Formats: sequence, structure tokens, C-alpha cells
Amino acid sequence: MYRTAVHFPNVVTMRRAPYSSESTLMVDSNITNSPEWNCIHTNDSETMFPTNFAWGAATSAYQIEGGWDVDDKGPSIWDTFCHEGGRLVFEGQSGDVTCNSYELWEEDLRCIRQLGLTHYRLSLSWSRLLPEGITRHVNQKGLRYYNKVINDLLASDVLPMVTLYHFDLPQALQDQGGWKSPEIAAIFDSYACFCFESFGDRVKLWITLNEPYVCAKLGHEDGIFAPGVKEPGMAAYLVGHNMLRGHARAWHSYNVLYRAKQGGSVSLAINSDWAEPLDPASPDDTAATERYLAFTLGWFAWPLFVTGDYPEVMRSSIEVRSKELGYQEGSRLPRFSKDEPSLLGTADFFALNYYTSRRVKPGECCPGLLGLKSDRDAEGVVDPSWPVCGVSWLAVVPDGLRKLLKYIKDTFNNPAVYITENGFSQVGPVDMEDVQRCGFYHDIIQEVARALREDGVDVRGYFAWSLLDNFEWADGFSVRFGLFHVDFSRPKRPRTAYRSGREYAGIISKYRSQTMVNI
Ligand code: NOJ
Repeated sequence: MYRTAVHFPNVVTMRRAPYSSESTLMVDSNITNSPEWNCIHTNDSETMFPTNFAWGAATSAYQIEGGWDVDDKGPSIWDTFCHEGGRLVFEGQSGDVTCNSYELWEEDLRCIRQLGLTHYRLSLSWSRLLPEGITRHVNQKGLRYYNKVINDLLASDVLPMVTLYHFDLPQALQDQGGWKSPEIAAIFDSYACFCFESFGDRVKLWITLNEPYVCAKLGHEDGIFAPGVKEPGMAAYLVGHNMLRGHARAWHSYNVLYRAKQGGSVSLAINSDWAEPLDPASPDDTAATERYLAFTLGWFAWPLFVTGDYPEVMRSSIEVRSKELGYQEGSRLPRFSKDEPSLLGTADFFALNYYTSRRVKPGECCPGLLGLKSDRDAEGVVDPSWPVCGVSWLAVVPDGLRKLLKYIKDTFNNPAVYITENGFSQVGPVDMEDVQRCGFYHDIIQEVARALREDGVDVRGYFAWSLLDNFEWADGFSVRFGLFHVDFSRPKRPRTAYRSGREYAGIISKYRSQTMVNI
């Protein structure tokens, strides 16, 4: 029987509700075998996934590990940001303990197994492995921790996808200029090589950097993410540039030194909304949409997949705005040097983080101001018919994912795509029976199936964000994305499946058994 989607009330819920812990239920270890666990009903003939499709969930080190200063770990910029710039984080919270996965990894593994995941995406804490950010001092305890995680996953038939960098630069490197410094590209490369060398015999899917857009814009333009730099219209472009240079070096190192013996794939995770013109008949809205996509997806995808350089519309917009503002010192968007490893072709697959969509019109924001938004001159609007879940930016638009996947196929020469993140948040009182999120997962997976079957997009996998409720950056613990609820008020941080966790397990089990039957 085809299960109709749950429709969400079209309301914008509070952005910053205090965390409240209610449930103490523990997960039954045989839960995937219980009938209630397999609660999804779909029309068998309607959707099909390839046999080796990756069914995953994702987390990141700072958001779940805790243990911020134990066992010789060095501080990262998020440790500093929360401790010193704490007023910028919800209720002064931090990731000091969070899910305490550093101590409780086996609990996470239990959750992973209960979901029936084939893949798990985690990130490495750079400063846990290299407390000063460089290979002069390797922290053996950090190495041991990640070796155990990777080995345990493999022993459970779960393949790791490992992100080298998910927002948490070692503070020691920030003190030397961080991502604004040109030297960071070579330092990142040597960290990447250290990781390929240490784990690459077992890890075959690598993400160098997670969401460089967010690091650049929120961390160095808006100053609301670590390291809290506010230099609008300047630092973000420099940071994005150095991140791309670091990525390219790491990819080339893998290609030359490790690919033949390790046989893995390396990419960079790009976040993007789907965007379409507010008025499809308006040339101004259409042009604004092109700029909107160029300044997010295109900024990082164009150099890797199309030309080795930034999208032309991004360059020209920044130049025009610089002239208008009387800015004298050359382009604010740096140029790639011919003497450096080239960017073009440095992604073995397209790694996409998709959460939401926007309708776009020309910008209304302060033309006299220096900043990315005014360079972009495009404003994203939430369609009133779209429900908004939890955080105010997260309009729920499952078919936006299908459209974005088709756009990626057409624009970037039909790459293999992993959806490395996608999810639905909850704020306010904990709702263990989260039917809206169940409906969301059902709908989004249908859209992925349509992209595969009807649009011919080469989608290789889907990673739900997130395995666990965790530290949601500036929103602290007030926003919950987990498939498992975590009770942050209790020392053991018990993990309990939300109904949506059971739903996702049911979806995975359904489609995996379907592909078994069809091979
Ligand atoms: C993307 C980021 O990679 C992740 O760290 C964050 O928690 C989710 N978006 C949700 O905001």
C-alpha cells in the first residue's frame, strides 16, 4: 500500500526554544526486527535503489565527541569560540561534553546497527589527532580512538565516509592566521596525507572539507560561527580560496601517493539550497537566481567540475560592485595561480549537503555596503506554501532536492552524487513521536528515487543528518536533528530512537530487501 505523506502544519516554529529533556526510554537492541520498527508502507513497483546504494547517517566530531581537553587533545576554534565568545552561542552552551561520543562510541555504534545503515559519515577532530595542527606531534590516543571507530564500523559491515575537516580548525593554526593565511593549504595537505596514511587502508570515501561556504561566510563574514571574524566582503573570499587550494592539494596527494594502493575516492562537501526565480517570467528574477546559485553551489563546484575557476557571473558581480564602491586594490575574489595544483577534476564524486529551497529576486540589501550579500544582489524568499520545521531557515521542500540533483547532473557533467547531508530539525519540547519528520524522510527518499529513476541522476547514496541530537553550532542544543534523541541532562547521555529513527530503519530495510530480491 502506498503511504501518503504526512502534511505538516504550515507554521514557523520558534527558533530558539530551550532544550528540554523528557524521555528516558531506551532502545530495544532487537528493534529492527520488531513489526513496529518496519512501519513504512510503499508501493513496491514505484521506487528502486541500486543494490550498492549507500544508506547512511552523518555526524561531526565537535558536535558529538565532547572530551574537548582529554587525552592530549588540543583546542580547536570551536572550543575557543564557545569558551570566550560564548555569548554568541545559545545560552552560552558548548561542545565540551555534548553526546560524549569520545567515551560512548559503542552507544553510537549500537544506534548505527539498529538503523541498519550501510554507511556512516563521521569527521575527524584535527586537533585530537594533531594537537598543534601539524604532524610534528601526533596524539596516539586520538589515533587509537579513530582506529577503533573505523574498525568497529567495518566489523559491523558499515562503511565509513570520513570528513577531514568539519568546522573545527586547531586553535594553534588559527593563531597563525587560520584559513586566511596562504600557508594553510600546505598544512591542510600534510594533515590530509597523515589521515590517508593512517586510515586509508580501510577508509575508501573521503571528504576533505565540509561546507566551505559556511566556514567562509558564517565564520569570517558574519562572525556567528568560529572563529568569529567579521570582515564583510573580504575575508570570506580569501578563506574560500584557501580552502579550495587546500582541497586541491589534498586531492592531488591522494591521487599520486595513495589512490593506486588504497583505491578510494575523495571529494569536498558543498552545501546548497535549490533556487528558482520568484517570478519565472521575470528576466531580473532569473538572473538573480543564477547569481544566487553561483555564490553558493557554483563558488565551490565550478572550480572543481567546470573550469578550474569561479563562475564568471560571480567574478563580474564582485568586480562591478567593487568599482561602484570605489574599491581600488584589485579584485576581492582572488585568482588561482598557474603554479599551483589545478582545481579542475579534483572531485571523484559530487558531495551535496541539501536542506532547503528558495525563490529568488534581485537583492534589496544596502547597495552601499561591502559584503557577499550585496555582491550577490539576490534575495532568497521562502514560498508561503512551504512548511518550516524547527529553525526558521529550514523550509521543507523535498522536491527541491530532486530539482537540484537534476541541475547538478546537467551542469556538472553527470557526476556520481552522494547526498552527504539532509535532515529535518525539531525545536521546543521533545517529541519522540515525530510524525512530521517521519513524513519528511518518506517524501525525501521518494524524491531521491525519482531523481534516480526518472531523471537518470547517478545518485550513489543518502546520509541523513543526523544520527544523534547534537551540538547545533550557534544554536547549541536548542535544535535537534537526530534520528536518536540524546538526553543531555544525564551523565550517560542515553540515546533513544525517535519514531523517525524507526521509520528510517524501516525505509532502509524495505529498499535493501527490495534490491536483494531484484538482483
Ligand atoms: C550542515 C552542517 O554540516 C552540520 O554541521 C549542521 O549541523 C547541519 N548543517 C544542520 O544545520
